[in-house]
Amino acid sequence: MIVANRVENIKPSFTLQMVTKAAEMRSKGIDVINFSVGEPDFNTPKHIRQAAKDALDQGYTKYTAGSGMIEFREAICTKLKRENGISYTPSDILVSNGEKQSLFTACQAIFNSGDSVIIFSPYWVSFPEFVKMAEAKPVLVDTLPDNNFEPDFSDLESKTNSTIKGVIINSPSNPTGGVWSNDAIVNLLKLANEKNWVVISDECYERLIYDGEFISAEKLNQTHNIGATVVTCMSLSKTYAMTGWRIGYAAGPNKIIKAMSKIQGQATSCANSIGQKAGITALLGDQSCVEEMKNAFLKRRDLMVELLNDTSGLKCATPSGAFYAFPDFSAYLNRMGNNKLLKDTFDISEYILDSVQVVTVPGDGFGASGHIRFSYATNREIIKEGIDRVRKALRMIEE
Ligand SMILES: Cc1ncc(COP(=O)(O)O)c(C=O)c1O
Repeated sequence: MIVANRVENIKPSFTLQMVTKAAEMRSKGIDVINFSVGEPDFNTPKHIRQAAKDALDQGYTKYTAGSGMIEFREAICTKLKRENGISYTPSDILVSNGEKQSLFTACQAIFNSGDSVIIFSPYWVSFPEFVKMAEAKPVLVDTLPDNNFEPDFSDLESKTNSTIKGVIINSPSNPTGGVWSNDAIVNLLKLANEKNWVVISDECYERLIYDGEFISAEKLNQTHNIGATVVTCMSLSKTYAMTGWRIGYAAGPNKIIKAMSKIQGQATSCANSIGQKAGITALLGDQSCVEEMKNAFLKRRDLMVELLNDTSGLKCATPSGAFYAFPDFSAYLNRMGNNKLLKDTFDISEYILDSVQVVTVPGDGFGASGHIRFSYATNREIIKEGIDRVRKALRMIEE
């Protein structure tokens, strides 16, 4: 074999495959509606783009400190204090090329071969792969769909064993849009502290919460005096519509951040310098753009959920965060579409794509059978037209 065994062990990014499929169909002139998008459709706000242009002109085109420019890490500390109520110093921060890299590097820095790591199902597709690439084993734990996809603590208890070294949490969640209650997070942190698990908290959708207030896991850890070890991973991607800039960061105990920094230093040296300069403006500049985008997402969420619930056979809980709806398509399982048995949501998604050219993401890919993910990071007209098409496809499914 010319490639290493580890390549065999990991799955390609499933959601990126859907995006590629939509792009290919479009390039063939097919009128595709894409509900698989995992990023805001807005451009990065103007003042942030201007900061990047200025950075280029001022010569910020060189390597930066491996863990990130000191001014940017200071800006991150200011933001963490201002918005999350948690205090860090720049040496507790690592800036990465997107939060995905922060999460990957955290797993590399924390887990050994033989360790197990808890992941809640439905999960973001990359979590199990990060764990496997660290040669550890993902342990999938159920959540409660009727309760914001919060952890099923009895399932967690039944799967707890001495090999577990960490747990990855993600609230608001991709793919469900669910936001866990503070109680659920506190209970998990207490268990993690008792068992000595490291908690990796993926908070990339922290600013996209529509009902209630976001409280960072580390803030709950401190206010409840729990004492768990928490590595918080955050991103500029979703908050400031900066997915292509590749800027994310991790904050946590100095020992872990230093270990992550050592690995990242050998992998990529540092994050993109221009993005870091723009990131300072994003975090310290006018925040009204964040509210404007959030308000647009809120209206789209309400429209998407209403249309899905008005569709025969579908049930869709109202997600409190992120920009995904996660309707239940179970009523269409094991029926015939285009003379083919629709045995899982991969089949249903494919049937919808082939019959009405709407791209969706099957929940089976996230460990959630019966559900399909619909992103509403697109405009209202597209949402209406897309759901109309989905209804047409569903009407053609035989009883
Ligand atoms: C749950 C979750 N975590 C992390 C990321 C990665 O974000 P970034 O663009 O900062 O790498 C994404 C992106 O889709 C995500 O959905």
